[in-house]
Parts: sequence; structure tokens; C-alpha cells
Amino acid sequence: MENRLILGIESSCDETAVAVVSNGRDVLANVVASQVDWHRKFGGVVPEIASRKHLELINPVIEEALSEAQVDFEDLTAVAVTYGPGLVGGLLVGIAAAKAIAYSQELPLIAVNHIEGHIYANLIAHQNLEAPVVCLTVSGGHSDLLYFQELGDYQLLGRTRDDAVGEAFDKVAQVLDLGFPGGPAIDKLASQGEADAIQLPRPLIDADNYDFSFSGLKTAVLNYINNQQQRGERIVKADLVASFQQAVVDILVAKVTKAVRELEVEQVMLAGGVAANSQLRAELEEELSALGVKLYFPPLKLCTDNAAMIASAAYYHWQQQNWAGYDLNAEPNLKLE
Ligand code: KG4
Ligand code: ZN
Repeated sequence: MENRLILGIESSCDETAVAVVSNGRDVLANVVASQVDWHRKFGGVVPEIASRKHLELINPVIEEALSEAQVDFEDLTAVAVTYGPGLVGGLLVGIAAAKAIAYSQELPLIAVNHIEGHIYANLIAHQNLEAPVVCLTVSGGHSDLLYFQELGDYQLLGRTRDDAVGEAFDKVAQVLDLGFPGGPAIDKLASQGEADAIQLPRPLIDADNYDFSFSGLKTAVLNYINNQQQRGERIVKADLVASFQQAVVDILVAKVTKAVRELEVEQVMLAGGVAANSQLRAELEEELSALGVKLYFPPLKLCTDNAAMIASAAYYHWQQQNWAGYDLNAEPNLKLE
């Protein structure tokens, strides 16, 4: 098979990332310049700062990725870029860079949905993974449950009706002063707490659908904190985050196992930043293995934002000749359809 090299660019949030991937699954370079230190002191990603940093970093990161992959622009088959969802300023920086390369090198331009990218990170990590497969995508902006009949073709089973899982993690961490991003901090602290210490709701857990809702759970945590403070009582942070994380994991595990049973699939993949959560991985793995179902998740480096996943997803678009035009624009609120 001829090597089809795709250069992927990702700049939707606070990582400026560029990768070179061969045939959708073989990573030649995966460079991620994180801006997290610039945003941390503000307790979240500041869009204005992110745009400026992307602008400073994009060209050096492209050069670094090409040199790490030991390829030149002429060796590329296509250029892929995240066009949403994300922060418009950052997206535009990546899109402008991708267009410039595509135009000057006469290469196909491929537009990739960021969430789709998170899913395809699994294909890089697990070379034998094939459809049919159920996919749980949980990140800072999205919580979607999908069914892939084929690798290039998915159906949306359900999604969150309000907050994304990662958003709930970040908010809870913020009110407890655990720092930013909140997910990893909660993951770590939860292992020292009692998961049944505080009773919290598990919205929609028994509903006969694949939808999620996390805002009620988040509010319950905030109310608990307020009530304890008003009564002058102590808040045991480790117990609270352990109880919160347990509620989240219970909900996610319930919906995934429901999908596995109803669709009779034998494989599940996890995607998105929250897929890094250690308790989610462990409990899902245990539940699924009891059902004879194999769970796949990307290694940590591919779970968080990177461009290898964008270049991988792009390969399936490239195969279907699904090119974008030079009128490609950022779509900050893009969803998986
Ligand atoms: O996919 P991602 O890197 O960026 C988005 O596209 O949103 O996901 C970031 C989210 C953040 O909300 C972060 O707190 C969460 O993923 N996260 C975690 C963990 N690591 C990252 N949530 C729970 N447990 C973790 N270990
Ligand atoms: Zn992401």
C-alpha cells in the first residue's frame, strides 16, 4: 500500500498541535504545544490569549512536525484541519494555516470535526480495532454516545441535554479550588475519598434513552457546598469529589452497557479528555468484560487534544474524496450529526 501522509492541524482550544500520520493509523510526528501555563492563572481558557498564542506557535509547530516526521510539504497527500467545535479565534488560525499549505502545495484540504478526531485517536492506538463498535465521547464540551456500523460511518445514539461531563468536572473543581483543568485534579483526589459519603443524584440513569444530563448533578454538588458552609460544617473535599465522580461514572457505565446490550456489539471505545478518568476506565472495563465486551481507550497522550487524531479522521474523509473548499470557515458550535 502506498503511504498516504496527512498533515493534521488542531487549534480549537488551548493546544497548538500539528501531526503527520500515514494511512490514518501510523503516527510519524505528533507535536503538541500546550498553552495551559498561560491560562492557568485565570482559572480557564481565555479565548483572546489562546488566539494570540496559536498565531505565535502555529508556524514553528508545523516546522517541528515536518522535521520530526522527516518529510517535506511535497511528500504530503493532504492537509487536514479542525474546523469546529471550539474557540473561533483559535480555529481560524489553524484553518488559515491549512489553507495556505493546501493552496501553495496544491493539496486537498480536509475539514475535521474535533470530536470525531477524539474518536479516531482509538484507531491509532489500536491497529486491529474495527467496526461495529459503540463509542462514548466525553470531553469538556461534549458527551455523545455513538454507534459505528463502519469506521467512516456513525449514528448518534444520544447526547447530553445540558452540561458536558468535563464541564461538570471543571466546575466542581473550580468551586473547590482544586485548580484547572479540573478533571485530573478530581481524579487524583477522589481516590482518597469515600464514594458513598455524600448522596448525589444520577439524572436520567434509568431513562429509556441514551441521553445524559449533568447540570442537576453539578447543581447538587454546589448546593451541598452552600448548605455545609451555611451550617458552618466542614467540607471533606476528597469525599465530595469521590461521591461526584462515582455518580458520573455510574451514569456513563449504565448508558454504555445499555447500548452494548441493545445493539449486541462486542467492542466499545472511549474518547475525549474525560476518557482519561481512571475510575471510568476501570469500572467500565470491569462491567464490559463481564459481558464479554472489549473496551478500548487511547493512551493518555492521545486522549487530550492533539493533531494526530485529526489527521487520522481525515484519512477516512480523504478515502471518500470528502474535500473542503477554500471557503472553509470555523464552526465554533459544530456538533456530531
Ligand atoms: O477533550 P478535551 O481535552 O478537550 C475538549 O475538547 O473539551 O477534554 C478536556 C476535559 C476537561 O474538562 C478536563 O477536566 C477533562 O477533559 N479531563 C478529565 C480528566 N482529564 C481531563 N476529566 C476527568 N478525569 C480526568 N482524568
Ligand atoms: Zn478535545
